Amino acid sequence: MSQTLVRLAIQTDLPALTQLDRRCWGPHNSPVVLDPNRSFTMSLDTTWVAVHHGVVVGYVNVDRSSDLPSQHHLRRIQAIAVDPDVRRLGIGSLLLDAAKSAAKTQGARKLTLRVMGSNPNALALYRKNGFGVEAHQRAEFNMNGQDVDDRSLYFPLDAAEPKWCSGSCHCGAVQFQVYVRTWEILDCNCSVCTKKGILHLIVPGEDFRLICGEDALSTYTFGTHTAKHHFCRTCGMHPFYVPRSHPDGWDVNVRALEGVEVSAFVCMPFDGREWASSVTEIR
Ligand SMILES: CC(C)(COP(=O)(O)OP(=O)(O)OC[C@H]1O[C@@H](n2cnc3c(N)ncnc32)[C@H](O)[C@@H]1OP(=O)(O)O)[C@@H](O)C(=O)NCCC(=O)NCCS
Repeated sequence: MSQTLVRLAIQTDLPALTQLDRRCWGPHNSPVVLDPNRSFTMSLDTTWVAVHHGVVVGYVNVDRSSDLPSQHHLRRIQAIAVDPDVRRLGIGSLLLDAAKSAAKTQGARKLTLRVMGSNPNALALYRKNGFGVEAHQRAEFNMNGQDVDDRSLYFPLDAAEPKWCSGSCHCGAVQFQVYVRTWEILDCNCSVCTKKGILHLIVPGEDFRLICGEDALSTYTFGTHTAKHHFCRTCGMHPFYVPRSHPDGWDVNVRALEGVEVSAFVCMPFDGREWASSVTEIR
């Protein structure tokens, strides 16, 4: 990406920004029907542009959520767009890095945005860049007769430091420790995760220690039998297991951690019902 730089927008970028808006927005990613003849309307003072081989090919607008003093610690991404000809080159991610850095420099503690359920590409971009889902608004819009969900996403600019955390099953026979490097977890909708109610923190082998209880564990497998669904034979809890996506690592159920609230983690949905197409997002 050395041929791409991100800088604040200037007046002479306006024709390129207008062109980007015309090429990037439609009913699948914007609930507002844009006038095809309108010019770029956002403030240039809060817009960062991506310049690729000397051409403006993308922008992100980061502004205050509101004028309320009680919301001065928030910044909101109002829009992010990359020209269709240069997508999947990491430019959207560079713009998100710039947005995080600008928000942090301004003293903000949380960066928010909204994304329509009909925009899976953007959701994948945000997932890859550490954003979590804070709220899921069902049927928030009705676009051409179809209900469309909306999601409020956030990125904590003051994320907790990495640390070792302890956990156990319910009866205490099984005890473990896990090193939490990134405070990001997955909420999977597959048949077994839904019934377990597990929230997944996937870590490499060296970040997990079984303190005691190997003998207390039993193991359930199904399907490809790659995942080893361990559970305590006495209390039935599933504190951790070997996941199919990372058979050399561990998948810890963060609900089994002690002294750590689930809300400390940034949580993203994982479509385990479509495992084969979804797993590339987390490997
Ligand atoms: C969403 C958007 C900004 C992404 O820009 P981009 O420059 O292509 O993003 P990146 O190249 O940084 O992509 C980073 C990651 O996001 C995910 N991603 C982005 N586009 C994707 C797509 N079309 N399909 C699947 N995953 C995608 C991938 O994980 C990708 O990493 P990879 O290429 O290594 O697999 C661009 O598609 C866009 O402008 N869309 C129209 C405007 C829009 O919808 N904005 C968001 C409104 S909420």
